[in-house]
Amino acid sequence: MTDAALATDAPVIRSEDAAWWRQAVVYQVYPRSFADADGDGLGDIRGVVQKADYLAGLGVDAVWLSPFYPSELADGGYDVADYRDVDPRLGTLADFDDLVAALHARGIKVIVDIVPNHSSDRHALFQAALAAGKGSPERDRYIFRDGLGENGELPPADWASVFGGPAWEPVGDGQWYFHHFATEQPDFNWDNPDVHAEFLHTLRFWSDRGVDGFRIDVAHALSKDLPAVLPSQAELDAMDTTTGHHPLFDRDDVQDIYREWRQVFDEYDPPRIAVAEAWVATAERRARYATPEGLGQAFNFDLLEADFDAAQFRDIVADNLAQSAATGSSSTWVLSNHDVVRHATRYGLAPRRGNPAKQGSAWIIAGAPADQIELARGSRRALAASLFLLGLPGSAYLYQGEELGLHEVGDIAPEDRQDPAFFRGADPDRDGLGRDGCRVPLPWTGTGASYGFGTAGAHIPQPAWFSDYAVAVEDADPASSLNTYRRALALRHELQTGESLEWLETGRADVLRFVRPNGWQVVTNFGMEPYPLAAGEAPVLGGLVDGAVPAETTVWLRG
Ligand code: NOJ
Repeated sequence: MTDAALATDAPVIRSEDAAWWRQAVVYQVYPRSFADADGDGLGDIRGVVQKADYLAGLGVDAVWLSPFYPSELADGGYDVADYRDVDPRLGTLADFDDLVAALHARGIKVIVDIVPNHSSDRHALFQAALAAGKGSPERDRYIFRDGLGENGELPPADWASVFGGPAWEPVGDGQWYFHHFATEQPDFNWDNPDVHAEFLHTLRFWSDRGVDGFRIDVAHALSKDLPAVLPSQAELDAMDTTTGHHPLFDRDDVQDIYREWRQVFDEYDPPRIAVAEAWVATAERRARYATPEGLGQAFNFDLLEADFDAAQFRDIVADNLAQSAATGSSSTWVLSNHDVVRHATRYGLAPRRGNPAKQGSAWIIAGAPADQIELARGSRRALAASLFLLGLPGSAYLYQGEELGLHEVGDIAPEDRQDPAFFRGADPDRDGLGRDGCRVPLPWTGTGASYGFGTAGAHIPQPAWFSDYAVAVEDADPASSLNTYRRALALRHELQTGESLEWLETGRADVLRFVRPNGWQVVTNFGMEPYPLAAGEAPVLGGLVDGAVPAETTVWLRG
């Protein structure tokens, strides 16, 4: 629906599938690493169009595209130079329209990534801010401060950026700008109405082009309240992030922005959907992003941060289902994305205290040498965890390549790395190596240039072992991870039911079993001892050995 259509006062009659997102399987495409149609080594929009049948055959309900906008690629495209265009290296707006048409023709919805906390320093608004100078309305769209010292030669505060290094950058006239992330990613000032207008325009632009929803990057950071005298980094670190009044993160008033956006989402039929990326302190804080008046849904990264452990998984599921029931949202489940170590690899390592997923690809090498990764065990556990997740009520977010059981690439040469977290030294938690290991272009064929990714090379080199995980190779093996995902997604459509579950007693601390309202059961054996089922119980997914669920395996039973 266009703005013009809205000008009539006709009541909007909602489509029946307005709730499509509640239990959808959403597949994340990282466009530069998915498929390269024009042979320049960089994945592109036409590459995704060419794989539309693959996505339909996999059985996903929606595709979320990470940024494909013009970008200098200082942060893999999360530094956006123009929110309403396609990077010429990736294609054109006409290609994008073809992609939407190709996916919609196959019943697949399209979600695009919105990056509202910061733009690229190449964005016209930031270039205008630099040119206009101190005190101008143009500068007010970003977060500029005078430097300290006699001539402003010192930063306004000692803050560190998320990727390491300082968070304030001088512009040469005594002023500095704030960037949470890389230097090339200046933060917007969301107190400025022009910034609101820019994003309302962007949301309508893509909605008018037919996209079905939005993934909101760093949704918890937009609103800021910076006092005249800035606190030090140590003072910031000591502040409570659960009060809703932190100067930088998860402020209660950020929801005002999303209430405004909701008005735009609801202009369309069916309403456009949104999912918040909000790394906040508690499930209760996260739920604030997932209300029907706000973004509607928020990523729940709790399983992604957990060990492969029955008690942890059960507590997380119970907590999150309770939270989403309280807000009227539906939970999201995630095990992998473009920011964390692939779960097949995480599960092949001994559990580490703290937060292994957040430690980035680097810890595979620095924290645990390659020969300490139990690859086969990691793959087995990954499939068990994924099938557990796919049986849960709520929506499931899959990351490209996880259907292949793909592992993280640990040994990327420094000169082939791209992640700013690597170049800026990152934080010690990431062991300094960053996130390129989960962003290596996908293998489509067992041989050939870049394993079928394109006709030339791949922008991050692929290791030789990628051929074992190629789509064509797994296609031919009925027991492969790919074919198991396909069966699971097809069955999930058939079995999908009300958004609840009931835990069943298993008599074992390392075995979880739950039943959905229509009798669909999921049994996951997290342990090493086989778990016998009752005589006559025959799974529709996953095999038994001698009537028992084998070690580290999930099976599904029909009701
Ligand atoms: C979260 C994105 O997922 C990540 O890839 C990016 O680096 C930061 N936000 C900054 O945009």
